[in-house]
Amino acid sequence: MRVLGINAIFHDPSAAVIVDGRVLAAAEEERFSRRKHGKRPVPFSAWELPELSAAWCLAEAGLRPGDLDAVAYSFDPALCRDRAELDLGDPWDHLRADYARRAPQFLATALPGLDPNRVRFVPHHVAHAASAGLSVPEDSAVLVLDGRGESASHLAGAYRGGKLETFRCQELPHSLGLLYEDLTRHLGFLHSSDEYKVMALASYGTPRFLGPLRDLVRADGTGGFTVDRIDWDALAPARTGDGEMTEAHADLAASVQQRLEEVLLDLARWTYDASGGLPTLTMAGGTALNCVANARIAAEGPFGRVWVQPAAGDAGTALGAALALGAEHVPFTTAALGRGWRDDELEAELRRAAVPYTRPESIAAEAAAVLAGNGIVAWYQGRSEYGPRALGHRSLLAHPGDRDTQTRMNDVKGREQFRPIAPMVRAERFHDLFEGVYPSPYMLFVHRVKPEWRDRIPAVTHVDGTARVQTVHVGEEPLVAAMLAEFERLTGLPVVVNTSLNTAGRPMVDTPREALELFGSAPVDLLAIGPFAVHRARTYGGER
Ligand SMILES: [Fe+2]
Repeated sequence: MRVLGINAIFHDPSAAVIVDGRVLAAAEEERFSRRKHGKRPVPFSAWELPELSAAWCLAEAGLRPGDLDAVAYSFDPALCRDRAELDLGDPWDHLRADYARRAPQFLATALPGLDPNRVRFVPHHVAHAASAGLSVPEDSAVLVLDGRGESASHLAGAYRGGKLETFRCQELPHSLGLLYEDLTRHLGFLHSSDEYKVMALASYGTPRFLGPLRDLVRADGTGGFTVDRIDWDALAPARTGDGEMTEAHADLAASVQQRLEEVLLDLARWTYDASGGLPTLTMAGGTALNCVANARIAAEGPFGRVWVQPAAGDAGTALGAALALGAEHVPFTTAALGRGWRDDELEAELRRAAVPYTRPESIAAEAAAVLAGNGIVAWYQGRSEYGPRALGHRSLLAHPGDRDTQTRMNDVKGREQFRPIAPMVRAERFHDLFEGVYPSPYMLFVHRVKPEWRDRIPAVTHVDGTARVQTVHVGEEPLVAAMLAEFERLTGLPVVVNTSLNTAGRPMVDTPREALELFGSAPVDLLAIGPFAVHRARTYGGER
């Protein structure tokens, strides 16, 4: 069966292709269009399709649109309710249902040769659920939480033998995702985009508004929840984008974060009981990108294992919708499902750019040496990642032992200084340094840094003594593992700083040309692109 999955309706448009139970390609439109998150999440943009990523997915799979057995579209307009019922106050909300109904024709225009009758609507939360529950080999309880789908914001259920059983959905307007989006907006950030900044800010605050929030946001005891209207101004003054960030803002973020964690724990426990005690929980939906909450669910919840879809946001529904139609388990083994280039193609790009480059015996050792000398490395290897995290394919790397690394990295990227940077660690050394969920190959949980290591890796230890760890397993990521092993040999540290290869406000680098553009515009010491090395000093002169 040849299925193309499409996410288009809200934000993070994306495409994925599955052929005979194998995921051949999955990518977000932003990596092609170079517009962060693909589009703004307004009803007027709901018609826009991930045309570039869809065309690439088909080409990568060697398919033409006419070869597809089905196109799975991760939104079902039949489930939409009218504006008054939703109580969200958006007079244009009906546009989403209108555009979605016409999506088969829009898709047939965008992908000439496609039979519009092959397009199937998959309910938004079923697509999220499948992206999680069908990505692990075993049966699992499944929990989906996001801002909103057609008319709900949550699904609790279980996958047994590839079939989804739905226990409970929480209808709008109650939404934990929209609660967090409202807070994000109130704190002067971009909603449906910058929620992770609020999570980072929360660790600087004291949850002194927890009392009122416990009254306003509650699990209802039947697997759902209620979110009453919140007078944000009564708690902390609204902040504009360039306004001062005060203690009150951090305290508000801390309070909402903690209340979210408490309610998610309640929902997880309820889902566990409803599933009859399935040992695995799988999660998706934008709220499942909250790695602080995920860590608490793993530590304090009843499940033996918690697995979160790396593309937990709406981008992942392209994969999920395609999986839902196939209704079979397709274990997720790598997020490296995007574009990649052959070595000769990379070399041609370097020649075209007329930069001096070498082909060292080991690019891993070359990068480790620059990192050990406190240099910054742009690490461009293999296929790009599906989902919001750089996992060693489109990464910016640095030394974890220098307190100034965080400032330097945030300066390179032009972003806020309270933003933490994260470590990648050799899997075999994880337990020496960290406590918490293991393995953690997709950076979806926070971990405790053992006290004796906090001063040795200060750049990646957050103010609260935690770190968002990526474990690197030699069988899955041999090149990254080799780089880490060499870095440890040189420095005694089995950890390297890893953040996404982009500058502020832009999507992650996807093509070799974009890698060179970043290298040319930011103080990066080495571009390690495939087997090739481009050194800043040899390219532009200078001290390093
Ligand atoms: Fe969603």
